[in-house]
Amino acid sequence: MDDIRPSNNQIYKELIKKVAEEFLPRRTPLTELQYGPLEINCFSTCFWMNVSDGEGQSGVYVKIPKIILYNKKNEQIMPLSDNDRRLGEDEYRSLVHLSRYWPSDDGDVRFVKPLGFLKDYNAIITERVYAEHFFKLLRRCDQRRTFLQKSDSAHLVMSRLGRALSKFHQTSLKECKWDVESIVRKMASCCSQLASFGVESAFVDMIVSRLETLQNLSIRTHCTNTLKGFDVRQVFIDGNGVIFLLDPGKMKTDYIEMDLARFIVTCRILYWGSMQFFLRKSPDSSYEESFLRSYYGDSVRQDKVICLLTIKELLKHWRMAYTVLRAKRWPRVVKEFLRRTYVDPFYKWQINTELADLGS
Ligand SMILES: Nc1ncnc2c1ncn2[C@@H]1O[C@H](COP(=O)(O)OP(=O)(O)OP(=O)(O)O)[C@@H](O)[C@H]1O
Ligand SMILES: [Mg+2]
Repeated sequence: MDDIRPSNNQIYKELIKKVAEEFLPRRTPLTELQYGPLEINCFSTCFWMNVSDGEGQSGVYVKIPKIILYNKKNEQIMPLSDNDRRLGEDEYRSLVHLSRYWPSDDGDVRFVKPLGFLKDYNAIITERVYAEHFFKLLRRCDQRRTFLQKSDSAHLVMSRLGRALSKFHQTSLKECKWDVESIVRKMASCCSQLASFGVESAFVDMIVSRLETLQNLSIRTHCTNTLKGFDVRQVFIDGNGVIFLLDPGKMKTDYIEMDLARFIVTCRILYWGSMQFFLRKSPDSSYEESFLRSYYGDSVRQDKVICLLTIKELLKHWRMAYTVLRAKRWPRVVKEFLRRTYVDPFYKWQINTELADLGS
């Protein structure tokens, strides 16, 4: 039977026409448009569109969320599963919420502006941001850092991010019950999945037994609207120093420290995927310290909660590293080598450090 699903190329052409009509300045002839190729990411297919006039340029980004994760078959935009559609709707809903509630008085940290959602294509249209990836600046600053140096431009960006996130959290802050049991249960389940993937069971058992000693940790906590996508790789900075944030992901009521831990772990894996990883595993801790210090200001910092949730996040990333490794079409021996020399030692070292900070 013939496959009647539209091809990526067909969808691309239809979207270019539709987006030009609905979201770009009126009467832009198709011949004056510029547009980029389809970019395949782990969780979406994207492309940009631009119109320039004498004054400057304006453009949009078209993003079709989909769980692709290195699976060739999933690189075809259609069909979209219910989960893909949920991914798109959740992200668009978050962007609309942020366009109303992200604090605008600290205008130099902004979320990308949503322009619309084309349901038939699961396509989110946002204003295009003309800026550089902040994580590249962070790598450069971290590598040039000298022992005596106190702060650099990346510390400043980290402080601004901490302050802006804190203001956003305060828009819906409420006291809530600290349910350590449920957290420990989720972490233990992640641990058993890691063991089933082949992670040394002695290490996994050690984590689980340490977690069990925390069941009595009684703490006053706060919940708020948290952003699943608050990730250092989604921070951009333009030539005027304006910070832009992309891809907030799904919003969820959760502990404020959940966003902090998520962000911290994305910083810890700053050198992943680059050759520098063999020289420097994680950036200097002063960067995350700048972020946390300005997040908390004069408020009481819940270090134990941050530590515990950081371990939770590390476990999730570790599990994801295995999922990605399995999806890669590399020879088995290469995968095994990476697992033993790169993935497992990194996460064990990170988790051991956090467990030591957590104390007993
Ligand atoms: N509005 C925008 N302006 C400029 N660039 C954008 C915009 N939206 C997306 N991009 C570019 O597309 C990339 C992927 O976008 P995004 O992070 O939203 O998708 P994703 O599916 O989460 O991808 P990944 O899995 O790589 O994180 C970004 O890193 C950025 O380079
Ligand atoms: Mg992303």
